[in-house]
Amino acid sequence: MNAGRSAVFLDEMGIGPLWRRRGMPLAEPAAPVAVAAAAAAAAAEAEPVPAPATIAVAEPFAPVVPEAPPADDVAGMDWMRLKSTVAGCVKCGLCNGRTKTVFGVGDEKAKWLFIGEGPGRNEDLSGEPFVGPAGKLLDNMLRAIGLKRGENAYIANIVKCRPTDDTGRDRPPTPEEAAACLPYLQRQIALIQPTVLVALGKTAAVSLLELGHDTPVSSLRGTVHRYAGLPLVVTYHPAYLLRNMADKRKAWADLCLATSAYASA
Ligand code: URA
Repeated sequence: MNAGRSAVFLDEMGIGPLWRRRGMPLAEPAAPVAVAAAAAAAAAEAEPVPAPATIAVAEPFAPVVPEAPPADDVAGMDWMRLKSTVAGCVKCGLCNGRTKTVFGVGDEKAKWLFIGEGPGRNEDLSGEPFVGPAGKLLDNMLRAIGLKRGENAYIANIVKCRPTDDTGRDRPPTPEEAAACLPYLQRQIALIQPTVLVALGKTAAVSLLELGHDTPVSSLRGTVHRYAGLPLVVTYHPAYLLRNMADKRKAWADLCLATSAYASA
């Protein structure tokens, strides 16, 4: 750093001024031996300058460098970093079988966040959550409460990669896979700041509420739970509802409960 820039830096830091001999331009610091010789010569020829009574000496200090978050600090990521981190994630074995990660979709300022289990075959191919028949039903459920995919609603999953069994069929994520992926969803929640969360099915509910995997959805319905300080309503997964049409009525009741939780939040 040249002396001019040092002066500006020291001034910015509230330290200084930089002392120099009258009439001398600011110069780069010289080597110590040269400094001693120059000082002796200068002392011999310089006009006598009365020494100040006290000399203020700046405390030696280490420059305060703001600490950058560690590269994998998901909790500090913005949307761009979070999306690219998820796209390249290798935190669990699900990365080996994926075609595309499925980050989530919708209004990034949504008041409603719907959380499913994980991508299936269609989602793995397209990179978007809930694109198959279950997705159509979910869109209808949203419409029933005046919402639309992408308008005041965001849709995400517990895991971002498709879990499959040995025969290549969809399966629920293991608790370990869910735990590995959860920080991404937590960051999505922190960035979106929704008013209400809706857990779609057992995997979403038990993962968020930290319950055993044998907890039935029916025992979690009808109560406004809390996750990260937000109201969380549990309902059936749309794929389950496609197989159990009679329970659509119960899902409607769950959406009504979520609507009232939203209204009173
Ligand atoms: N089921 C889910 O839980 N999520 C999807 O994205 C698709 C199907």
